[in-house]
Amino acid sequence: MVKGFLCPVCGELLIEEEKSYKCENNHCFDKAKQGYVNLLSSNSQKGHGDNKLMINARREFLQKRYYAHLKNKLCKIIEQYSSNGFFCLDSGCGEGYYTKGIYEILSEKDGKVYAIDVSKEALKFASRSCTNVKLAVASAYKLPFSDESFDIVISLFAPLAKEEFYRVLKKDGIFITAIPDENHLYSLKAAIYDTPYKNKPENTELCGFELIKSEKISNIIQLDCNADIKNLFMMTPYYYKTSQADQKKLDDLNRLSVETEFILLIYRKK
Ligand SMILES: C[S@@+](CC[C@H](N)C(=O)[O-])C[C@H]1O[C@@H](n2cnc3c(N)ncnc32)[C@H](O)[C@@H]1O
Ligand SMILES: [Zn+2]
Repeated sequence: MVKGFLCPVCGELLIEEEKSYKCENNHCFDKAKQGYVNLLSSNSQKGHGDNKLMINARREFLQKRYYAHLKNKLCKIIEQYSSNGFFCLDSGCGEGYYTKGIYEILSEKDGKVYAIDVSKEALKFASRSCTNVKLAVASAYKLPFSDESFDIVISLFAPLAKEEFYRVLKKDGIFITAIPDENHLYSLKAAIYDTPYKNKPENTELCGFELIKSEKISNIIQLDCNADIKNLFMMTPYYYKTSQADQKKLDDLNRLSVETEFILLIYRKK
């Protein structure tokens, strides 16, 4: 079971105090006023994670419940695969939209939720909505937890640090992630690109894990203002890859029906 965060300097357990976390070697990490702790070393902090603009776009979009169907299905799956006292990690939790739902399910069963993200800006928001979740700025590729700490690890649209997830999960632990299906956001792509393409099927094999369930979730969302359309666009990987000229095509668009198609993948650690 997870006893807590580990010190990024010496690897010893960090003991939580009112305003900070401290290890037995006296390395001390202050909590931010919002409540999260920064466990990233200063030279690995620059240029990582989502910036304020992207975070605001995602937060505004998710708050309008456009992806509530995905959150609801995720929560049902967690309900189904969890038992009393489960420990869960949400890796790359962003502003905590899904983390909050995860916490609500697991806290009913005396469970505990930890969440990390490399973006401090994201955790400022997550701290507001997930007050009882233990939050840290940390990288998925160097998780501040000992081996076999968690019963469930979740990573949604965030870096898939397979080896670390394997390490921190208990034997038979559950790993949950999501991928886009074929038609996900096709109409958004069609509004931007001359030759839009469908998503290719992804390889779902994961070394050390057995895929025990895959669940498709789809619907059509009606975006009825330009800000929502642009916010969705900024949440996608296309945002980085699209020319200014193509991005401008969204400027005059005020209504758009968009397909959302996700596949939730549930794995068990072998
Ligand atoms: C697309 S967002 C998804 C956020 C959240 N899981 C959600 O679905 O709303 C990806 C998140 O991964 C974070 N991220 C990027 N690189 C990371 C890393 N190496 N370790 C942890 N988080 C990372 C970003 O800062 C961002 O918050
Ligand atoms: Zn230490």
